[in-house]
Amino acid sequence: MLRRYLSNGAKFVNRPKVQWNLGQRLHENRPFLLQPGELTPGITAAEYYQRRAELVRNLPVGSCLIILANQIKFASGAVFYPFQQDNDLFYLTGWNEPDSIMVLEKPSENIEDHELTMFVPPKNEFKEKWEGFRTGVDAVKEFFNADHSYSVDNSMSMVNELAKIIKRNKDIYFDPDSNKNSKINSNILNLIKETNKGTPKKLKSLVADLRKVKSESEIRLMRRAGQISGRSYNIAMAQRFRNERTLHTFLEHKFISGGCDKSAYIPVVATGPNALCIHYTSNDDVMYDDEMVLVDAAGALGGYCSDISRTWPVAGKWPSSAHKDLYEAVLNVQRESLKNCKKALENNMSLHDLHEASVKLTKQELKNLNFSKATEIAEKLYPHYIGHNLGLDVHDVPEVSRFNPLVEGQVITIEPGLYIPDSPEYPAEFRNIGIRIEDDVVLKKDGYINLTVEAVKEIKDIENVMQNGTTTDFEDDVVSPLQG
Ligand code: GLY
Ligand code: MN
Ligand code: MN
Repeated sequence: MLRRYLSNGAKFVNRPKVQWNLGQRLHENRPFLLQPGELTPGITAAEYYQRRAELVRNLPVGSCLIILANQIKFASGAVFYPFQQDNDLFYLTGWNEPDSIMVLEKPSENIEDHELTMFVPPKNEFKEKWEGFRTGVDAVKEFFNADHSYSVDNSMSMVNELAKIIKRNKDIYFDPDSNKNSKINSNILNLIKETNKGTPKKLKSLVADLRKVKSESEIRLMRRAGQISGRSYNIAMAQRFRNERTLHTFLEHKFISGGCDKSAYIPVVATGPNALCIHYTSNDDVMYDDEMVLVDAAGALGGYCSDISRTWPVAGKWPSSAHKDLYEAVLNVQRESLKNCKKALENNMSLHDLHEASVKLTKQELKNLNFSKATEIAEKLYPHYIGHNLGLDVHDVPEVSRFNPLVEGQVITIEPGLYIPDSPEYPAEFRNIGIRIEDDVVLKKDGYINLTVEAVKEIKDIENVMQNGTTTDFEDDVVSPLQG
């Protein structure tokens, strides 16, 4: 097959010289991934600035917020896991280097006057040769709008600066977390104690309230991640797989070649009885023609997650009418739950209300399929929740109560399921079948937008894709995932 090495009409023949060696991708070193003004794909420096201004809006003058970055974690010896930034720090700055500290102060009533101080790993020729470039103490001001910046390498002067900041503020917001840098964590707690600021105030729920409501640019990113991931499902359904691991890696390859950065979480690829385990991730079994496969997998783009589940027959034909009927039952619950999202805001509904409604719908579906004691068993056969908030984290902002009324701009998943154990309590023809169907929606005043609409789920559509292939136009090896 002839591969297209063109995107947006650009040719990639001679590498232009990059002026900046930076610790993360920016427009200056990855101009096809980020537009001028963006700090992370799709999100501008101005939006990060606005998020900080919003965070301090309702805080008293003299407030100071401190967030420690995550550290690199090691699997064994020198083998490290991919770095995952603290998502609150990332949300407020776009900064993606480990071992850093962000401090945000509110020195006056004017929220635009907030001051950002960043403590970051300094430039270091030796370290950068082995571990990769660092942005450094100067460029964090230049690109990330830090008003003040210091090196994390000089711990004496770092603690002195932190002491000055803590001393000059009245209220300190800080969530101690000994899983991060435990020495800095206890240094900060000691400084708070020494300066008679009492105990730190909680910070996480303040950021969660902001993260809960997605901006236009966040929704655009999540829509694109959902679209790429959804199209990948169709392409996978149009093929046949014999090994769970092959399907797993095929999907991951498609997510990334279509423009996502990575998988949003470890995929579930579960055939037959493996699907009874909700978080089955070993994905090492053979797939049989008389089974369905339950897949829960999706890509992330610019830090934002997509989250999709689909279940389809391995061989392209429904193994039995029971498989089809149970599938239709879950699909009915999913369709009705999506309908409930349409009027969720108008009816002041919470995530919990949506869940309760889905349990009721599931009971009715089980009754229709002649399960005995449908009412009592529904919660056993549908043991998880209808969904969760989605954003930088897959299970986003858990600090936000599921009993609060949903609001415009919240992105939630709608993911009913049924998992029938191999037990004589249940009709024999349904045993050992597990089904989940999951989409992501952004709630609007007048309805919702399905961010993962491309992935087919109607029985006829699945059959059509599996038997006739997909017409999905999928650009492989995408250079600029947010353009065009
Ligand atoms: N993929 C995890 C979940 O659906 O919650
Ligand atoms: Mn989910
Ligand atoms: Mn999922």
